[in-house]
Amino acid sequence: MRHLIIAFVMVIISSPLTWAEDSVYEPVPKMEYPADNKWSAEKEALGKMLYFDPRLSGSNWISCATCHNPGLGWGDGLPRTIGDGQKELGRHAPTVINSGYFKVQMWDGRKKTLEDQAKGPIGAKGEMNQDYDELVRELKAIPGYVKQFVKVFGANSITMDNIAKAIATFERSVVSKNSSYDKYWAGDKSAMSKSAVNGMNLFFGKAKCSICHNGPVFTDSGFHNIGVKPAGPLKEDLGRYNQTKEDFDKGAFKTPGLRSISQSAPYMHNGTEATLEDVVEFYDRGGDVKENLSPFITPLGLTRQEKKDLVEFLKALDGEPIEVTYPDLP
Ligand code: HEC
Ligand code: HEC
Repeated sequence: MRHLIIAFVMVIISSPLTWAEDSVYEPVPKMEYPADNKWSAEKEALGKMLYFDPRLSGSNWISCATCHNPGLGWGDGLPRTIGDGQKELGRHAPTVINSGYFKVQMWDGRKKTLEDQAKGPIGAKGEMNQDYDELVRELKAIPGYVKQFVKVFGANSITMDNIAKAIATFERSVVSKNSSYDKYWAGDKSAMSKSAVNGMNLFFGKAKCSICHNGPVFTDSGFHNIGVKPAGPLKEDLGRYNQTKEDFDKGAFKTPGLRSISQSAPYMHNGTEATLEDVVEFYDRGGDVKENLSPFITPLGLTRQEKKDLVEFLKALDGEPIEVTYPDLP
């Protein structure tokens, strides 16, 4: 039934009229902070320390930045992440860039907010393998942290909730902005090459990418099965289905944002596509696994030049470099 509805919607939105070139640009809005976790400079600075501090892990070796490394596009450069005890996990570490804008977190959307998300990897056996009470005790024994928590949250405030709030505040500062694409729409028509402009028109037109990758950060916050082949230790990953138990969600994963995506190869929930060129080839052949495939994924019949153009457009979504200095840890 849902597929019928989707197919119907597809007929409507595939009508060429929808793809008027000048109606598609959406700039990245100002970051919003939740009412119960307002921004402050001190909070962001504390969150940054925690993000880079390997003492947050049980082994004292792994920090958030191990797997979401600014030097690797805020990912880890691996197909599938390596966690505690050097074990390969089932999924690829997505970039943290723009995660403050995402309405759902994780490939299967099992977390809603960054605050909610941040506690997960710290406690997860396969990731940072840390005992929460133990972590709170450890941080309480570090005078520099005690001082910073008092400044930000008040006396006796070292708790898992506040650790997560600070980290989430830092993550909201990691934003991709001022890309060639933004400059182009701000009036500098020389900011994008002719090939990138062709790619943009394909993205919003013939290649149908914007059916799912839309809005200011190029995600519909939805879940789709685009036919990614299995790889890695998980023989089968049902993705969103694990959360909803709805058959139509089998093999569906969150639509990732695409700004600055050229920085965080490899791609897909299990890292099966090594480069952007590979991703475009993947879509051109209409995906790999046909079971429960989204009706929006069909062979595209792109020419060699059109494939190049699409890749050029994806690269034009790179924001200016995100300056981050490694914090002095207390
Ligand atoms: C061992 C590697 C590893 C560590 C350490 C780690 N992550 Fe992740 N992170 C991942 C993987 C893998 C995923 C995707 C997992 C999934 O979807 O099932 C993920 C997902 C995320 C997401 C969701 C992004 C999105 O687009 O949905 C955020 C945000 C995030 N991590 C932040 C953090 C923070 C903050 C820390 C430190 C507290 C951290 N991670 C520690 C590997 C890691
Ligand atoms: C039906 C919705 C849909 C359409 C249409 C679509 N995508 Fe995607 N895209 C997704 C989803 C969902 C994923 C993640 C899938 C997975 O990992 O299993 C994804 C992944 C990607 C990735 C990898 C990002 C990362 O962080 O690993 C890139 C790049 C990408 N798409 C670009 C494109 C381009 C270019 C097009 C058009 C040719 C396109 N997409 C069409 C939904 C879509």
